[in-house]
Amino acid sequence: MPASARPTVAVIGATGAVGASFLRVAEERELPVGELRLLASARSAGRRLRFRGEDHEVRETSEETLAGADLVFCSANSDVSRRWGPVVAAGGGVFIDDGSAFRMEPGVPLVVPEVNGSDVEWHEGILSIPNCTTTPLVLALHAMRRVAPLERVSAATYQAVTGVGAAAAEELRAQLRAIASGDEPAPPRELPHQIALNVIPQVDDFAEEGYTREELKMQNESRKILHQPDLRFSATCVRVPTMVGHAEAVHVEFASAAPLEALRRELAAQPGLELQDEPGAGLYPTPLSTENDDRVFVGRLRRDPSVEHGAVFWVVSDNLRKGAATNAIQIAEEVLARGRLGARRAAPAL
Ligand code: A2P
Repeated sequence: MPASARPTVAVIGATGAVGASFLRVAEERELPVGELRLLASARSAGRRLRFRGEDHEVRETSEETLAGADLVFCSANSDVSRRWGPVVAAGGGVFIDDGSAFRMEPGVPLVVPEVNGSDVEWHEGILSIPNCTTTPLVLALHAMRRVAPLERVSAATYQAVTGVGAAAAEELRAQLRAIASGDEPAPPRELPHQIALNVIPQVDDFAEEGYTREELKMQNESRKILHQPDLRFSATCVRVPTMVGHAEAVHVEFASAAPLEALRRELAAQPGLELQDEPGAGLYPTPLSTENDDRVFVGRLRRDPSVEHGAVFWVVSDNLRKGAATNAIQIAEEVLARGRLGARRAAPAL
């Protein structure tokens, strides 16, 4: 693609929860788009979606509808990513994936631009955005490690149903309607248990040593993005009955003294992050107060008296925006700014 041309952009999963957010964020951030192709499964072919005041027909994802695309965003499922990522990369396009299919592959940069934007330099056609709980966490940790090296992280998450997808959000709505009318909710289909009036200590399937895949994703992805392969890490991921916005209670331990005032200063200075921490005035972030915002919010920062150099904080961000669509678009901006659309370079050993 000539440097002056506007890229042909395809969105796989355009009809989904992240797809809708993607189109809104691309409008707001004025992503350069020449031709736009909105793609989904065959079920959605023929639907129409609006972008920049114009209707676009949704088409089935195929070799034909992806041919010649310069930038492809994918938010569907791992099978879809695995099917189309290599096809796009082989055709010279750049595939930016919202799923977990490629995140830990050595040749795939896993990027939060404010933390490791320069990692886009070594992409080989596929780049990945982190899990929607990893992104806000590493942004806060990245600011804090300017005060003292990170040694250990322990987190508990409070994750909204849109993290599962649009169908899970509808399941919560239907359960709430049934309960409000005094009826028994229908058995859950998208989540392992009823989510209305409940919390579920399981996000994704169980994997190793009693941890879920989501918990291991947080651990492995944080290490990769922060370039700290030995970071000690443990998480418990919990689904809660909120629609949008993932929250996390995080305990962090440092290798040396990390005074609260210095942590506060670095958090306040961190691009993409907002410190909202006046507990006396009832000011701290919540999923509702941070919805539709691209920033990651941190509050409740305090010393952890149970370890020598530790802090505790609360971090919240919109899982559909910074947790997914916004981060994907920021990666595309980084790729464009660095002239890395279509070009290839070898991955360094991390
Ligand atoms: P469709 O609406 O046609 O099923 P969510 O995460 O909100 O559930 O959205 C998932 C997105 O992934 C939807 O846009 C969905 O399209 C899309 N999708 C699901 N299966 C496929 C597939 N086989 N090929 C392309 N897109 C798919």
